[in-house]
Amino acid sequence: MNPQDNPNSENSDVGDVAAERVRIFDTTLRDGEQAPGFSMDRRAKLRMAHALEALGVDILEAGFPNASPDDFASVAEIARVLRGPTVAGLARCHDGDIDACARALQGAQRSRIHLFLSTSPLHREHKLNMSKQQVIDTACAAIERAKGLCHEVEFSAEDAMRTEPEYLVEVFSAAIAAGATTVNVPDTVGYTTPTEMGERIAYLRKHVRGADQVVFSTHCHDDLGMAVANSLAGVAAGARQVECTINGIGERAGNASMEEVVMALRVRGAFFGVDTGIDARKLYPTSRLLTQLTGQAVARNKAVVGENAFAHESGIHQHGMLKHRGTYEIMRPQDVGMGETKLVLGKHSGRHALRQRLQQLGHEPDEAAMDSIFARFKALADKKREVHDEDLEAIALGMDPEA
Ligand code: KIV
Ligand code: ZN
Repeated sequence: MNPQDNPNSENSDVGDVAAERVRIFDTTLRDGEQAPGFSMDRRAKLRMAHALEALGVDILEAGFPNASPDDFASVAEIARVLRGPTVAGLARCHDGDIDACARALQGAQRSRIHLFLSTSPLHREHKLNMSKQQVIDTACAAIERAKGLCHEVEFSAEDAMRTEPEYLVEVFSAAIAAGATTVNVPDTVGYTTPTEMGERIAYLRKHVRGADQVVFSTHCHDDLGMAVANSLAGVAAGARQVECTINGIGERAGNASMEEVVMALRVRGAFFGVDTGIDARKLYPTSRLLTQLTGQAVARNKAVVGENAFAHESGIHQHGMLKHRGTYEIMRPQDVGMGETKLVLGKHSGRHALRQRLQQLGHEPDEAAMDSIFARFKALADKKREVHDEDLEAIALGMDPEA
């Protein structure tokens, strides 16, 4: 989006200066795909991977190779054919997972093994039955093994946001010394708040040894509806990788939605001072492709890519939009590849929008005719959710739209 195309351009530096880059780590094909109702076969994953590459993601997490032979094959195929993004595979801190991941990623131009291990007290005690030191030793041994088998290693401290901050400093300091180049701070259960996330990233950047040699990353789940806000708070505090998915799909309530993160960073460029490498005009087509491949629609009122994201029905809003689109839109549908703003005609619509639509349909009623058309339109709109062009044509021609 060019600043001159942005109704809020005076508040935005997008396009003016080279903003610092935030890496987009897409996990649609791993965290997204592992959610109930969203599984994709190999062909679907490959199509999605090509779309994500065209979208400009920096890192594409293609799957969890040791989870199943099919996941292994999908990751291997994606690694072989993609040439743009770094291809990542997920692995627990187990030799079997690491070796399978490395084999699946062998053909990649640039490969990343994404290791994870829980660090929170709850997980240490009930899931892993490990002491604090055992967690650190296990993570470091896994990182040491993985780093010789791929180009780069990411380490995720699962349930990081419920982990003691001082202990997390020790975990990440050890992970960096062992060779991790990205350290990820997942809010695995979607429990944190933006303030906490911002403070945690700032604290880690200040205290972790070797912090200036690595990229800090967020990975936020949406259980309380704060995944995007938490990710953005992390970025404001210095995180330079955001893990997210198309349409926000993912475990339980999902992950941070990529389209929302990208457009928030772009529309509020002056506030954040960073940008991504995403071609935003491909966001909507990519969102649509995912709904087709999974059979799961997005909510009509979903931010950025929902059907209503650029639709206006109320008369007051439509009147404002007809005068200056900046009155009720902070970005254009074209910016996300969605076509045109829609002024939907329904019972809340006013005379201005009705007249404009009639003109687009080739009708130029005088004021008296307009009075009668408007009255008939309102009567029909009270009965129907949306008044379509065929209804308007009938009304304008004096016919009965319900006949
Ligand atoms: O939510 C989570 O903690 C994860 C990790 C594997 C990064 O998905
Ligand atoms: Zn996750």
